Amino acid sequence: MRKLALLITAFVVVFALSACGGTTDDGVTSIGISMPTTSSTRWISDGYTMKDLFEEEGYNVYLEYGQDDITTQVAQVENMITKGVDVLVIAAIDNSVWGTVLENAHEAGIIVIAYDRLILNTEYVDYYATFDNFGVGTLMGQGIVDALELDNNTDTFNLELFAGSPDDSNSAYFFNGAMSILDSYVNAGRLVIQSGQDNFTQVTTLRWDGTVAQSRMEDIITAAYSDGEVVDAVLAPYDGLSIGIISALRSNGYGLGAEDTPMAYVTGQDAEQASVQAIIDGYQGSTVFKDTRELAAVAVNMATAALAGEEVEINDTETYDNGVKVVPSYLLIPIFVDASNWEEALIDSGYWSLDDFDLGE
Ligand code: GAL
Repeated sequence: MRKLALLITAFVVVFALSACGGTTDDGVTSIGISMPTTSSTRWISDGYTMKDLFEEEGYNVYLEYGQDDITTQVAQVENMITKGVDVLVIAAIDNSVWGTVLENAHEAGIIVIAYDRLILNTEYVDYYATFDNFGVGTLMGQGIVDALELDNNTDTFNLELFAGSPDDSNSAYFFNGAMSILDSYVNAGRLVIQSGQDNFTQVTTLRWDGTVAQSRMEDIITAAYSDGEVVDAVLAPYDGLSIGIISALRSNGYGLGAEDTPMAYVTGQDAEQASVQAIIDGYQGSTVFKDTRELAAVAVNMATAALAGEEVEINDTETYDNGVKVVPSYLLIPIFVDASNWEEALIDSGYWSLDDFDLGE
């Protein structure tokens, strides 16, 4: 009986170990994909598109989501290293916690690709797959200039600013890109930031949390817009923030049909379903579409070429200094989307289907 129990225990242990799979000596190339959260549909699409493409190449894939918890994400990646992955693709929750982890990855001979978000202060990031993040910001800034027709009138408008998570290096690129367009109008007094919160550190939104943005917008409306001033435009760098900001505006009477409080022009990013619906319904001004299918394909091509010892295709060797080195990057081009082109950009490309939206007809 005891022998049988031991045998069963041994079998269970062996089975459990083999279920982990992906060790370096099993001959199968393994890829570890570490994504930040499933709370936003884009990261679900990024992760699963990569998983499918890697599996088509015959690779074994581990896909994990850190659910916006830094410790969880680091532990997941450490676990992937222990399992013996050959490539790590990481979209970091926090860009600054990876020194030791990636040193271990490097020692294990793992190729590291920073996905969409740059990882800072380590030399062990081999490649960076992303979009032109400064360009994303300029699209938002230009959207505001065009919506308020700042170049065709002499009026003064009120603008409020939001930025992304301070530990995501993209946040500063988006903000600086937008301000490269907006600054001259602010300096000329054509755009007034009634809250006075006009520098990056004052306007960041930890973890890109829409509820944080919503309550900050509420506070700003109470503090700076109770004397009859009206918010005309809001720089919001992510649809999840835009939705919160729009809720705050609507609960303060904006966009309900009154002539003196029309909906403010709110920007966005990611072309998430709820925000595309809000654009169709007239509550959100615009978004920036970044085709996650293309980004996934770039990362998979990078990994596949690097694994084969071939030249990895990059198109930028200047922009992304991570504090230790300039990381060789491939930048994709973002697309501005508003009520005039959402069908062409999002439906014709197959990113969303018309059935995903209520057209109110
Ligand atoms: C950024 C990304 C944006 C948006 C945001 C929040 O890093 O570039 O497109 O997704 O995170 O998830």
